[in-house]
Amino acid sequence: MSANIPPAGAQVQINLAERSYPIVIGPELLGDSATYRQLPPATTALIVSNTAVAPLYARQLQAALGGHYKKVLLTVLPDGEVYKDWQTLQLIFDALLENGCDRKTVLFALGGGVVGDMTGFAAASYMRGVPFVQVPTTLLAQVDSSVGGKTAINHPLGKNMIGAFYQPQLVVCDLDVLNTLPARELSAGLAEVIKYGPIADLDFLDWIETNMDALLARDPVALAHAVRRSCEIKAWVVGQDEREQGLRAILNFGHTFGHAIESGLGYGEWLHGEGVGCGMVMAAHLSRRLGLVDDAFVERLVHLVARAGLPVKGPVLSSQDNAGRYLELMRVDKKSEAGEIRFVLIEGPGRAVVRAAPDALVREVIDTCCR
Ligand code: NAD
Ligand code: GLY
Repeated sequence: MSANIPPAGAQVQINLAERSYPIVIGPELLGDSATYRQLPPATTALIVSNTAVAPLYARQLQAALGGHYKKVLLTVLPDGEVYKDWQTLQLIFDALLENGCDRKTVLFALGGGVVGDMTGFAAASYMRGVPFVQVPTTLLAQVDSSVGGKTAINHPLGKNMIGAFYQPQLVVCDLDVLNTLPARELSAGLAEVIKYGPIADLDFLDWIETNMDALLARDPVALAHAVRRSCEIKAWVVGQDEREQGLRAILNFGHTFGHAIESGLGYGEWLHGEGVGCGMVMAAHLSRRLGLVDDAFVERLVHLVARAGLPVKGPVLSSQDNAGRYLELMRVDKKSEAGEIRFVLIEGPGRAVVRAAPDALVREVIDTCCR
């Protein structure tokens, strides 16, 4: 699966026929009413946010939406991956029903990937579907989760197992909000930025290596390029395979191992991006053991992931049979077929492939990569 991606440009558009939408990227967007002018008219908007993000940005967004909607409501969820569940999802439906929201009501997801995934799923299900807008406030959400229409909640037995494909009407990536993001969360977002290099765009991988210090220092020009290029690559993939029948699975590079780490430790212990960062390292080692890439490629990726401030060694999930526990968790993956785990592997720099691997090799990788 090699990529033939259009060059970097100012406008990023998700092209999905009647479900197409723009991703706007830049400073000072969230609080500007002009950002939302293109949205269809409706009486009510409901902003869904959380206890960390709402105090920072909800008032600005409410004011910007005030000219567009008669009523702008706000519901504030508890903060954290551990709340990405049925019980918390119900709070969104409670707010919609208690306020008599009709099927034209527009939901605004104001937060990171957790708020975005939950709000999207609520929008997909309320009255069998109401419009929604993503206003991502983490780097991870701006470069990945707000784009492409995957929405979900977690189940104790598996990550993102309950959800729907449901596209937003607009994605608003205001780069200014990244200034309040904790450093650990910035690093987590960089994992998803790095991901796009090995799977699709070696020039972008080179660029990330050259600009890693600027990204960590939140240089606005570097962040703008990282968000735009990531969204362009994701748009290119999603435009061809919206519902992950094939190509889109490459976006899960690092996620098979990463999801096992997240659910094995208990949601929230490691951040999603930390699991992905370490998972990419493990997937690179597996690619090496299958003879798809050389040692130099693995070393290059390990070095870059570490520079981003991400873990490169996996946690021990079981003192009895650690590799066995990873394998058990990884079988509960949406890419698994008839109980067979399918990994996103690198088959050459800039090219990903999805395939199974012998358990013995996977065990060797886990033994090498965990401490
Ligand atoms: P998150 O939503 O938990 O946000 C991280 C933390 O940062 C939270 O505490 C949040 O409240 C806080 N925060 C958010 N914006 C802030 C800001 N501007 N300033 C200060 N604090 C801020 O985590 P995330 O990394 O954004 O998203 C991870 C989630 O996204 C996972 O559940 C993952 O499964 C999901 N995901 C979904 C997709 C998809 O395609 N739908 C893709 C990747 C990840
Ligand atoms: N984050 C993986 C995807 O959107 O497909």
